[in-house]
Amino acid sequence: MKVIVTNSYDESCKVVAEMIRDVVNQKPACKLGLATGGTPVPIYKKLIEMNKAGEVDFSQVHTVNLDEYCGIPGTHDQSYRYFMDTNLFNHINIDKANTYVAQGMGDFEANARELEAKVREGGVADLQLLGIGNNGHIAFNEASDHLVAVAHIETLTESTITANARFFEKKEDVPTKAITMGMGDILAAKCVVLVATGLAKVPAIKGLIMDDVITTQNPSTMLKMHENAIVVIDKELANAVGYKG
Ligand code: PGA
Repeated sequence: MKVIVTNSYDESCKVVAEMIRDVVNQKPACKLGLATGGTPVPIYKKLIEMNKAGEVDFSQVHTVNLDEYCGIPGTHDQSYRYFMDTNLFNHINIDKANTYVAQGMGDFEANARELEAKVREGGVADLQLLGIGNNGHIAFNEASDHLVAVAHIETLTESTITANARFFEKKEDVPTKAITMGMGDILAAKCVVLVATGLAKVPAIKGLIMDDVITTQNPSTMLKMHENAIVVIDKELANAVGYKG
């Protein structure tokens, strides 16, 4: 696992957008694993700018998203399908038929199987983008005494519901379950890039980069087993966890 420390969150987003641009330029029909949440928004803004400037072409790219809330449709403004459309897909030259976000409505188990099929379709992701939860979750694989390898339904922890309440009118509106890629799905990607900023992430990032322990209580620590995992943090967060490089 490699750790990159940048001067600022903006620089982290630039570095990651450039990594994604380079993967697409090297392999125009690549497969990207994408993430939602607050963290990747400026990364997607930079990719939109690059696409408009002719620096990257998404016309042959396929994408699969990490997760989706159970119980809200893709038209809901807090669904991850809506997030991806409005924060990225509507503004770049990607074919939306080549983008996949799990369905949040209907038969959740069947939707999880469909997500698993999409993870495998056409081979593994060339790059998987990740945020990290305050409790170390990646996608919606929550801290627990066990983790699940494949796509499945996860019950969200109190920590995740509280963290995500900022996107909803009230905390009670946050869905309590989600469909998520499993840990094996995420670790199968050729390259995994995790971006984090903000002091709320200190405990999770400490567990990820400050020792060699792997624990299901901090799912991100599984990345220590990946030979091409990259963690991108700004110096504020690096200093807060005591990371010296
Ligand atoms: P955030 O979420 O980017 O909104 O902090 C990250 C996550 O929960 O994975």
